[in-house]
Amino acid sequence: MLLLQVDRAVMTRLCWLFVLGTLVVRVSAADSLPPFGMSWSNKTFGPDGPWQAVQIGVGYPIQQVALYPGGTFRSHFLTPRICSNTTLSPTACFASAGGLYASESSNTALDDIIGFPAATDFTHGGLRIEGTAGIGALDQMVLGTSDLTRKTITVPNVTIAMYDSIAAIYPSGSIAALQVGTLGLGYLGTVNQSFTFPDEPLINGSLIPGYLQAANLAPSNSFGLQIGSVKSKIKGSLYFGGYDQSRICGTVSTQQGAFAGIEPDDDGTKGLIDLLDIAINVVDGSSPFNTSAISNLLATGNSSIGSALSVPMLPEAPYLNLPKSSCDAIAAWLPVTYNTDLGLYTWNTDDPRYTQIVSSPSVLGFIFRKDQSNSQNITINVPFTLLNLTLEAPLVTSTVPYFPCNAQSNGKYSLGRAFLQAAFVGANWNANNNQGVWWLAQAPGPNIGSQTSVQTIKDQDATISPSSNDWVASWKSVLVPLTVDSAGTATTNSTATNTTSSSDTEKPTSRLTTGAKAGIGAGIAVLVLGIIAFGVFIFLYLRKKKSHSKGDSTPEKYSDVGYVPAELNTHEQAAELNSASKPAELNSQAPLKGHLVQDGQPQPVYELGGDVYR
Ligand SMILES: *[C@@H]1O[C@H](CO)[C@@H](O)[C@H](O)[C@H]1NC(C)=O
Ligand SMILES: *[C@@H]1O[C@H](CO)[C@@H](O)[C@H](O)[C@H]1NC(C)=O
Ligand SMILES: *[C@@H]1O[C@H](CO)[C@@H](O)[C@H](O)[C@H]1NC(C)=O
Ligand SMILES: *[C@@H]1O[C@H](CO)[C@@H](O)[C@H](O)[C@H]1NC(C)=O
Ligand SMILES: *[C@@H]1O[C@H](CO)[C@@H](O)[C@H](O)[C@H]1NC(C)=O
Ligand SMILES: *[C@@H]1O[C@H](CO)[C@@H](O)[C@H](O)[C@H]1NC(C)=O
Ligand SMILES: *[C@@H]1O[C@H](CO)[C@@H](O)[C@H](O)[C@H]1NC(C)=O
Ligand SMILES: *[C@@H]1O[C@H](CO)[C@@H](O)[C@H](O)[C@H]1NC(C)=O
Ligand SMILES: *[C@@H]1O[C@H](CO)[C@@H](O)[C@H](O)[C@H]1NC(C)=O
Ligand SMILES: *[C@@H]1O[C@H](CO)[C@@H](O)[C@H](O)[C@H]1NC(C)=O
Ligand SMILES: *[C@@H]1O[C@H](CO)[C@@H](O)[C@H](O)[C@H]1NC(C)=O
Repeated sequence: MLLLQVDRAVMTRLCWLFVLGTLVVRVSAADSLPPFGMSWSNKTFGPDGPWQAVQIGVGYPIQQVALYPGGTFRSHFLTPRICSNTTLSPTACFASAGGLYASESSNTALDDIIGFPAATDFTHGGLRIEGTAGIGALDQMVLGTSDLTRKTITVPNVTIAMYDSIAAIYPSGSIAALQVGTLGLGYLGTVNQSFTFPDEPLINGSLIPGYLQAANLAPSNSFGLQIGSVKSKIKGSLYFGGYDQSRICGTVSTQQGAFAGIEPDDDGTKGLIDLLDIAINVVDGSSPFNTSAISNLLATGNSSIGSALSVPMLPEAPYLNLPKSSCDAIAAWLPVTYNTDLGLYTWNTDDPRYTQIVSSPSVLGFIFRKDQSNSQNITINVPFTLLNLTLEAPLVTSTVPYFPCNAQSNGKYSLGRAFLQAAFVGANWNANNNQGVWWLAQAPGPNIGSQTSVQTIKDQDATISPSSNDWVASWKSVLVPLTVDSAGTATTNSTATNTTSSSDTEKPTSRLTTGAKAGIGAGIAVLVLGIIAFGVFIFLYLRKKKSHSKGDSTPEKYSDVGYVPAELNTHEQAAELNSASKPAELNSQAPLKGHLVQDGQPQPVYELGGDVYR
């Protein structure tokens, strides 16, 4: 209802603008351009996913490469030299999964003129990447064909870095070749990354969203990203100059400043948001946990964390990089086992609670400070089904479902793709006169219909609007609520009910099946049946005796298990109220301007003497 009112207010404003525009004002051509939507690869990637990636063509003749959207400035490519290095690719070449880039095979590559090295770890510490620094270059990128204009968009001289010899290092010392590079998402007020050389003309490399705006191919230097999920069949969504509104449920948290920093200069100091707590909740049905709501998981067992942990969002990296204490506090509630070699947790798939947790509307809730205010929170719920990810070779010899909390993040805390499967993020690099804003919001599950609702981000826009999609409904029929009975098997704690558990019907039956499979002789079978008959007798006797002496304890056992009203709903409704009561702010657009390049005054970035790595 409230959202509807806002929409109506905006629409009234748009109609008014339209009338005014046709009569007097020349509406800026750039602002009326459609956002550009990227295509996603049909392949999925590991070895800790499955993950989705965008598909681009690079160079001429075109080389097809899949990249994770993420990071600032350069895009990062893996080269065929990773495959010919037997240390990095001892058996198979995992690095070729997303497609490799060979600048020597591209007629449009400028790979000699920019000798500046690029940071070795282009995941901003999201993975522990070691090896040799990347090599800077420029080449053209074919982004794809616009759905709306049918135009194929090619960005010349994109600033890139090529990696011949890098790998992710795990706590055991094992090394794993990366499988996919990254597509740079731009930077504050920047169209060109400029390289200077003594006595030589300046060389400019394009940043993609800045170039699209400057070349009148997108309305602003901005992006909207929802990486989706392979297993839950949520398609990836990446727009430059706009966003798909249907990927935003509930309120949006707006942060001032850059979405991410420049590595390694201000790596880890930009794009931070305060993570206040982590909670486990069950949104519908009975709880597979022995209690209804679990909170304080961020700071449990670690007094040095205090009231918040500031983290960046890292779509270029896979895990939830949290202090080990926080990972352990979450893991204590889950049927998982810590793998010291990898610093990750594997699900105990034989535990009945495993299937219950990953198939029910049980969520890991991340509570953040909203809008950088100490009076508002925003919770992003990540259903556990999205955290039932898969480890594959070369990390493990046979595939294993794992829980992606990285307990060996070496003090570099961040939220990677595991979290971003359930979140929308976006940024306007030019907002607030190139100071920038970025956004975080809850993304829906798979049930949102097939229609996108692509909205434009204008040059100075500092706000975006959510859809009216309901988050709970977006997971309906995908996540099946547990009934008291289906949750009951998990919450039965054998030590708490040890008088009856040994004669529980489940165990003797499975023993019989095992015995029968082993092909035990008829005589023994008779003996076994005799024992079972005796067991059933004892069971019935004890049960009768127990119900006489103690009464039935079952109802009490289930009493704290059941529907958990999500605490955050009240906050979100309150925040919705707030935004609805301020339609004036939504309506007040910056004056429309015609000259975008002057409008978003680019800040030249100089790289001198190779001591600045980008
Ligand atoms: C993915 O597959 C569809 C249908 O097979 C095809 O039309 C599309 O071009 C493919 N996308 C890419 C990026 O290869
Ligand atoms: C192969 O990769 C390893 C690890 O990054 C590196 O130390 C070594 O120098 C590389 N070998 C070659 C021939 O590039
Ligand atoms: C790419 O950069 C090079 C070096 O600065 C320049 O000579 C060339 O004209 C640029 N190409 C385009 C299409 O802008
Ligand atoms: C960026 O660089 C290109 C090529 O060097 C140039 O044509 C363009 O004017 C530059 N754009 C800005 C905003 O500086
Ligand atoms: C506790 O949190 C701090 C960060 O605030 C971290 O450096 C430390 O490693 C954590 N301790 C454990 C046991 O995880
Ligand atoms: C509930 O389960 C947790 C973890 O599985 C366990 O640590 C705790 O002792 C249990 N509490 C009760 C009351 O059984
Ligand atoms: C925000 O969340 C924190 C941690 O869960 C909680 O202590 C605080 O009361 C919440 N604040 C608001 C305004 O809801
Ligand atoms: C969890 O992931 C594994 C693959 O790692 C898959 O086989 C299993 O079906 C998944 N479980 C659920 C409930 O989605
Ligand atoms: C059962 O309860 C005991 C103590 O009440 C606890 O230590 C144990 O972890 C529980 N087991 C399970 C599977 O929850
Ligand atoms: C479980 O059995 C132990 C001894 O085997 C006993 O001490 C304990 O009280 C029993 N617990 C319950 C809840 O009956
Ligand atoms: C390169 O970019 C800078 C800053 O964006 C701009 O001032 C300069 O004119 C550009 N150089 C060329 C050759 O276009």
